[in-house]
Amino acid sequence: MPVITCIEDLRVLAERRVPRMFYDYADSGSWTESTYRRNTSDFDDILFRQRVAVDMAGRSAVTKMIGQDVSMPVALAPTGLTGMQHADGEILAAKAAEAFGVPFTLSTMSICSIEDVAANTAKPFWFQLYVMKDRDFIERLIGRAKDAGCSALVLTLDLQIIGQRHKDLKNGLSAPPKLTIPNIINMSTKLRWGLGMLQTKRHEFGNIVGHVKGVTDMSSLSAWTAEQFDPSFTWDDIKWIQDVWGGPLILKGILDVEDAKRAVDTGAEALIVSNHGGRQLDGARSSIRLLPEIVDAVGDQIEVQFDSGIRSGQDVLKALALGAKGTYIGRAFLYGLGAMGQAGVTKTLELIHKEFDTTMALCGCRRIEEIDRSILLFEDDSWAAPLAEEAGKPSPVRAVN
Ligand code: GLV
Repeated sequence: MPVITCIEDLRVLAERRVPRMFYDYADSGSWTESTYRRNTSDFDDILFRQRVAVDMAGRSAVTKMIGQDVSMPVALAPTGLTGMQHADGEILAAKAAEAFGVPFTLSTMSICSIEDVAANTAKPFWFQLYVMKDRDFIERLIGRAKDAGCSALVLTLDLQIIGQRHKDLKNGLSAPPKLTIPNIINMSTKLRWGLGMLQTKRHEFGNIVGHVKGVTDMSSLSAWTAEQFDPSFTWDDIKWIQDVWGGPLILKGILDVEDAKRAVDTGAEALIVSNHGGRQLDGARSSIRLLPEIVDAVGDQIEVQFDSGIRSGQDVLKALALGAKGTYIGRAFLYGLGAMGQAGVTKTLELIHKEFDTTMALCGCRRIEEIDRSILLFEDDSWAAPLAEEAGKPSPVRAVN
């Protein structure tokens, strides 16, 4: 067993263990993947200010996301097809998150159903909703999330139509996978994955199959899903969802100050600055570039959370320093899951916690409330100048020549 010291080690292992079609699905961005790459490379532009001889004893990463206690400001993001990275993937990831004390968000397009995850966990998890044309189905889905005790609804706003990921088309992505010759050849090299899949009955979209009239098999499901994402959805439809749900709502996929203001008007609990991990609008700016702007515009009116591009605890700290109150990891935990199942997700969380805690200490912070922009430095003015302007006062962020 290789020594795992970072998320990249888990990624390498996942690439070896997960069938190509599912690894590629998780790992890809849309079209040229320029936004996908920027999401991570823009983090590299941000540097820390080291502080020394500060009392670092008794540090804690404990905080709250939407008023709920978390052991660190990191939730597991909703990711589609998680149960194809590893058998029973959603259940395993939810268990790892629960034991670690961070939120798990179940995707509408999960393999394990809401009821299945609820039956296998003890604490409430969050549920992510795509708005689909079949409002009757959505109403029942929200009702099922309520019955399962979900403690937040994460509404995805940036996937009314899907951004093309070339590899999914080339690989003929489907769940369960079609038994074509290339798929059979590839899967025959993934023994650990195959054994897990043979031992579980969870092979298709658990929230959908059996819950929609006429959707009974793979081909009727594909036809239904393809025409279900709702291109006509607008801000006005959010009210209906709030009325049906009646609990804490988080709006995911905000990348613009004007949209952030609209999000505030809905009365939602939180918004997530996110470009869907670079999987939707290719050519959009990175999430981390847009975070400070959105925090400055609405951070005192709504909880601003962050996703897209986090691969380390250092990245989490940078997002917090730029004003996020909580963050989400998607690929980082999927790599862990694909590499080693539940133990791999736990490993992801342990790695990120350790990196976060150590970096926080070296920046002279002991508690989450002490983290602010003054712990950051930038090598070029393109970051520092806008930050100063937006705040309307001299920025605590100093550019390094
Ligand atoms: C779904 O959310 C996807 O990005 O594939």
